[in-house]
Amino acid sequence: MMIYANGNWVKAEDAVIPFNDQGFLYGESLFETIRTNHGKPFRIEKHLERLQSGMQTIRMDGKALLDTIPALLQTFIAKNEIKQALIRVMITRGAISSASDAKLALYISARGVSRFEDWPFEVIFFEEKNYPILRFHPAIKSGNYLGNMLAKKDAEAAGAFEPVFINNDGYITECAIRNIFFIKDNVLLTPTIELGVLPGVIRDTIMELARKRGLQVQEALIRYDQLAEMDEAFISSTGVGVLPVTWNGFESNYKHSQVLRKDLQLLFESGASDVT
Ligand SMILES: Cc1ncc(COP(=O)(O)O)c(C=O)c1O
Repeated sequence: MMIYANGNWVKAEDAVIPFNDQGFLYGESLFETIRTNHGKPFRIEKHLERLQSGMQTIRMDGKALLDTIPALLQTFIAKNEIKQALIRVMITRGAISSASDAKLALYISARGVSRFEDWPFEVIFFEEKNYPILRFHPAIKSGNYLGNMLAKKDAEAAGAFEPVFINNDGYITECAIRNIFFIKDNVLLTPTIELGVLPGVIRDTIMELARKRGLQVQEALIRYDQLAEMDEAFISSTGVGVLPVTWNGFESNYKHSQVLRKDLQLLFESGASDVT
């Protein structure tokens, strides 16, 4: 695979990160994982919007760099003859220098898409206060995933696939690297982004697909003690799509979740980005 490493196209095995890159030194970076179907990036404009919003939050001045991404992605896809992949775009603060003239760095790499067939997957609920999670408002996808990754390791050690966080006010927020949804009486519920939840590209897509299917959609405040009343639950991300989940023996027929999972798969397979 050919990687784009800040201006250079290099073989993956030869790619290096400069030792003095502030993304590496201080976690000063943003990233996006972009689903690519039939060689076409899925909802690239949403990923660019999220990057731009993240740049504003962490005061990176990089509109010009952002504008180069679509063409670089095309070149990346062509060079690697990519049909289906998860492409990772990363912007770092760049090599350390006198803070004012540090030059942002851009990296592009990719990995394959995994299949997740044996659902429901187990999730486990953790209190956010036990993990060092940085929540910016609006939420950003930064290179500071320490709390998320610690929780993911703890979840896996406990036999679960993914942790789900409960914030200090007792509300469900999101997973370590995914969003979460519930269904109750034909209403699709997901934690509101007011809680500092990442506005997932797939989260948005699912809400559109659900409306098209006649479900009511509510971005809501959901408490852990309300979960037993839910009819269905699933998690979502660019990597897993829609993945039905269970916890503590929660049972469901996943009626709507299965439909939404299929709808999203079909959208991916079509190579299109828009729900029509
Ligand atoms: C914390 C968090 N929430 C949600 C998501 C899902 O976002 P998307 O649907 O854009 O993949 C991610 C993706 O990496 C994430 O890191």
